[in-house]
Amino acid sequence: MVRSVIQGIGSYVPPRVVTNDELARLFTTSDEWIRTRTGIEERRFAEEGTTCSDLALQAAQKALEDAKLGPTDLDLIIFATLSPDHHFPGSGCYLQAKLGAKNVGCLDVRNQCTGFVYSMTVADALIRTGSYRNILVVGSEIHSSALDFSDRGRDVAVLFGDGAGAAVFSASNGDDRGVLYTELHADGEFTRALCMDIWDISHKPFITAENLESGKIWPQMDGRTVFKHAVTRLVETVTRTLARNGLKPEDVKYVFPHQANLRINQMVAEKLNMPKEKFLSNIQKYGNTTAASIPLLLDETYRAGKLERGDLLLIIAFGSGFTWGSALIKW
Ligand code: ACO
Repeated sequence: MVRSVIQGIGSYVPPRVVTNDELARLFTTSDEWIRTRTGIEERRFAEEGTTCSDLALQAAQKALEDAKLGPTDLDLIIFATLSPDHHFPGSGCYLQAKLGAKNVGCLDVRNQCTGFVYSMTVADALIRTGSYRNILVVGSEIHSSALDFSDRGRDVAVLFGDGAGAAVFSASNGDDRGVLYTELHADGEFTRALCMDIWDISHKPFITAENLESGKIWPQMDGRTVFKHAVTRLVETVTRTLARNGLKPEDVKYVFPHQANLRINQMVAEKLNMPKEKFLSNIQKYGNTTAASIPLLLDETYRAGKLERGDLLLIIAFGSGFTWGSALIKW
């Protein structure tokens, strides 16, 4: 039986650290407000001139090195982002050229915070059918160019940071490890709860001066609705994932939740009666890096030597759309 295993993993964050105190100099907020409501202490912002595919390149090169593969060994690149270099073509094509992975197919996934789970599900399916052997999945974001650093946008601006994470999924024969299960969900009734309207194709032209002036170019979020649904859906997805695989919570070594808000993940752990320590976090250092957050957390955990062969890892994510999902991996 062919399974897909994570053959290599890597991540990259830009060097510039932005503390909560630094944000408090731009608009009305405080380190205390941000820490207590979100767990975030600092985040990274890329310098002007840096694109999402630039961050992805650094993470991808580390993942390929870890996998002991070259760029042309890849059969496909799947690029998850909500902050692409340009509206088109997809960031996968920009990354492919920078990486030197000539003629390798590229697919962009626009599923926000669940981008990595959606992308790895596609990678896993293509590998298990025997179509492809090595697929690079990258999540990368530059949020710092698209946040409203004024009192109007402060609820969103404090949450997000820049970064990238990448994983090479490879075919493995007769192995009991690898991706065991994935599930994906969405509820399009909530598209307005977390969205960005700058691009509105119903307008002619599609970007209006009015949108620029009214602040519609910035992300809009109904934070409480997001919070409430995130907790409910993540609890549901963990419960179903465990039940469908005949597992108990104690069988899972670590949960890798999307890093949106430390309080969301702690509440999910509490409602599931699972130890909070099992729910790993690095949101304190990076804020919410959307599609990058899970591979970034996986890479840090792996490089810290915390993962042993055979460990059961559970990935869960919830985000704009709403979209949510899970993946179970035997390391
Ligand atoms: N600093 C200081 N005060 C602020 C800030 C800020 N950055 N932002 C909002 N406030 C104020 C509000 O204006 C409000 O003031 P008021 O009471 O005078 O009206 C007060 O703080 C409380 O605001 P709430 O929105 O009620 O605060 P809440 O406790 O709900 O926390 C938060 C807000 C942190 C955004 C929370 O709702 C949340 O985390 N929601 C989920 C958000 C999230 O996870 N988004 C991303 C996930 S999905 C994805 O990753 C794409």
